[in-house]
Amino acid sequence: MQPFNTKIDEPTRPDDTTETLTFGGAAELRPGACARLELPDGNELAVYNVGGEFYAPENFCPHRGAPLADGVLCGHIVECGWHGWQFDVRTGECLTVTERLKTYKVRTEEGVLKVEV
Ligand code: FES
Repeated sequence: MQPFNTKIDEPTRPDDTTETLTFGGAAELRPGACARLELPDGNELAVYNVGGEFYAPENFCPHRGAPLADGVLCGHIVECGWHGWQFDVRTGECLTVTERLKTYKVRTEEGVLKVEV
């Protein structure tokens, strides 16, 4: 897992429920790669580049809490490294059991990745 600039710039709050975090250049996260983003509340997201599209589901597996950023990404499916549960990083849907990861919207502005949490 490559280290990634997780410096969080000044957060903005367009309303009471959404915060936009800036966390690095899109070019730093190559296709097929993943980086962790720690949120101010201590939770983590796993940010994936799938063919130039960016997705950010929560990082911890709902089974036993493994970091999904350390899992194996194949296309838009990540397989948990501990027991093999599979998740669609686009939707958070678990393909193994009836579970779902929370997902967050990622956008690119002038080459900078931003996530809405
Ligand atoms: S901790 Fe992920 S499948 Fe068990």
